[in-house]
Amino acid sequence: MNLRALFRPSAKYSIFALLVVGIVVGVVGYFATQQTLHATSSDEFCMTCHSNHSLKDEVLASAHGGGKSGIVVECQQCHLPQEPFQYLIKKIIVSKDVIGFLTIDGFNTQEWLEANRKEQADHARDFLRSIDSSTCQNCHKRIYEDQPETMKKMAKRMHSNNFKKAEDKRKTCIDCHKGVAHPYPKG
Ligand code: HEC
Ligand code: HEC
Ligand code: HEC
Ligand code: HEC
Repeated sequence: MNLRALFRPSAKYSIFALLVVGIVVGVVGYFATQQTLHATSSDEFCMTCHSNHSLKDEVLASAHGGGKSGIVVECQQCHLPQEPFQYLIKKIIVSKDVIGFLTIDGFNTQEWLEANRKEQADHARDFLRSIDSSTCQNCHKRIYEDQPETMKKMAKRMHSNNFKKAEDKRKTCIDCHKGVAHPYPKG
């Protein structure tokens, strides 16, 4: 198969062909070494497919972009679970985005991102909710137990009230914190 054929519109590909691609990518993902997994988790890797999206600039402009603290948070530090098994699972799920990349019309354009941002944001949020925002908590450790002196009163109150609730009634970080790295779409 020549390269150009790979990027031709998807209608030409049978579901079967796409499935095969998916399975191959999945298997490769599964057997990849930690090293490969790390190489495929850099911001550069994420931005190969999202290269025309403003996502990285948005992070840089946010509180997670290195301002006060000097720490620029990487895409994967928020979006991929750090626990090895969950990480692998998420990677395999993400590898289906290869198909999306080849088949979604105009995917890698800012117009597409803006037109689909709400839906994409909600996918990302659903995932974070499913892991109880554990990626956030990797950095923001023990936000409920020992709150720094410097934390705003309002934040302390919200956090302590949430923590007092039964575990299954508690909100997760992203329920209250929208748009910590990208502007959350209105509406
Ligand atoms: C192979 C191309 C490709 C790569 C590499 C890639 N993405 Fe994506 N990404 C996509 C496509 C395509 C979509 C849209 C998926 C859809 O709607 O079906 C998407 C959607 C997303 C979404 C929103 C939807 C969701 O499922 O949460 C997030 C968040 C995201 N990507 C983050 C990342 C991060 C972080 C990385 C690097 C670890 C990354 N992407 C690397 C192609 C890619
Ligand atoms: C790699 C570490 C890291 C990760 C992961 C991370 N943060 Fe942060 N967060 C920071 C740093 C550093 C700051 C800036 C602190 C400062 O300026 O005092 C910050 C600031 C914040 C702030 C205060 C600024 C604001 O935007 O209001 C909130 C709220 C926040 N993070 C929530 C989150 C949430 C929610 C997640 C998960 C989606 C998350 N963080 C993931 C390190 C991280
Ligand atoms: C019930 C809602 C709620 C939940 C759940 C919640 N927060 Fe907050 N948080 C707030 C409010 C309100 C503020 C104060 C306004 C602001 O700074 O955005 C705040 C402030 C913060 C700040 C800035 C604190 C400072 O120094 O002023 C960080 C960091 C933060 N939250 C992280 C988290 C993390 C991590 C989680 C999950 C473990 C979480 N929050 C869960 C409501 C919540
Ligand atoms: C501090 C945590 C954090 C970092 C760093 C981060 N994201 Fe996100 N991202 C989120 C959260 C949380 C959402 C869910 C929507 C929201 O709340 O804004 C999201 C949403 C998205 C979406 C869906 C569209 C949208 O704008 O909501 C894409 C795509 C995405 N992120 C890609 C990336 C890429 C690529 C990087 C690295 C350049 C990155 N993110 C860095 C936390 C982060």
